[in-house]
Amino acid sequence: MIVYFNGRFIPKEEVKISPDDRGFVFADGIYEVVRSYSGRFFEFEAHLKRLTRSLREIHISFHESESLRDICEALIRDNDLKEGDATVYIQITRGTAPRKHTFPDKTTQPTVYISASAFDPPEENWKKGIKAVLVPDIRWSRCDIKATALLSNVLANQRAYQNHAQEALFVRDGAITEGSHTNFCAVFDGQLVTFPESNYILSGITRGVILKLCREMEIPFREFPVFERDLKRADECMILGTTTEVTPVVQVDEWKVGDGTPGTVTMKLQKAFRETICKIVSQ
Ligand code: PDD
Repeated sequence: MIVYFNGRFIPKEEVKISPDDRGFVFADGIYEVVRSYSGRFFEFEAHLKRLTRSLREIHISFHESESLRDICEALIRDNDLKEGDATVYIQITRGTAPRKHTFPDKTTQPTVYISASAFDPPEENWKKGIKAVLVPDIRWSRCDIKATALLSNVLANQRAYQNHAQEALFVRDGAITEGSHTNFCAVFDGQLVTFPESNYILSGITRGVILKLCREMEIPFREFPVFERDLKRADECMILGTTTEVTPVVQVDEWKVGDGTPGTVTMKLQKAFRETICKIVSQ
């Protein structure tokens, strides 16, 4: 596999990251995951915008954002990923410097790592839906930054896995904020409800596309917390994300959502989302 590392395209095995890298020591960095469909990126500009924002919020100076698209395209090409599905992973850390909590001196260059891999879409989950579990949202209060510090997300997802579920949904102050690697929506009487954009969730690119589709398709929606106490009144639940796309949630803990099968609004949005992708691929 050819990857991009600090200005060079090299075999993955040749990447050398220092144990003093602030990403390794402090998880002091940010990342993005972008999907490629038949060699076409989905919403690349939106991912780039979010990456630039994440960098700005944690004060990492990185001046090569403009070149990222070309790098990602080269990785798709050079790894023979122009056919079929792939993901691109971009990670930027504050760079390598002796361990000290304050920022290193200004000459320290950020560490940039980008890789592209084939992706096997979870089609079975899209059709049948998944089980989710509720977990306390023990994360920090800047979930809007796509930080590599994902320990709470890892612990939550492992809890899901151990309970034969595919996603963990975070609950903060009685409300479901989002999943461990997805945004969450519920449908009540035909209206889609999802936690408002704020410091408590990642502003998902998929979430943005789905809300735009809701507008176009005249599906009513509300950016408002879904409280755990109201969840059992929901007719449908779904998760949204770059790798999950629109996935129905048919069970939360021991409770079956609706009749335990994917909901109508969910499947309508899933179809519309797939059509959006088809349009991009055929352009
Ligand atoms: N996760 N919320 C969280 C906490 C996420 O980590 C993600 C994405 C999302 C959905 O965002 P988007 O639609 O932009 O992918 C919401 C990525 C895919 C990951 O960590 O692998």
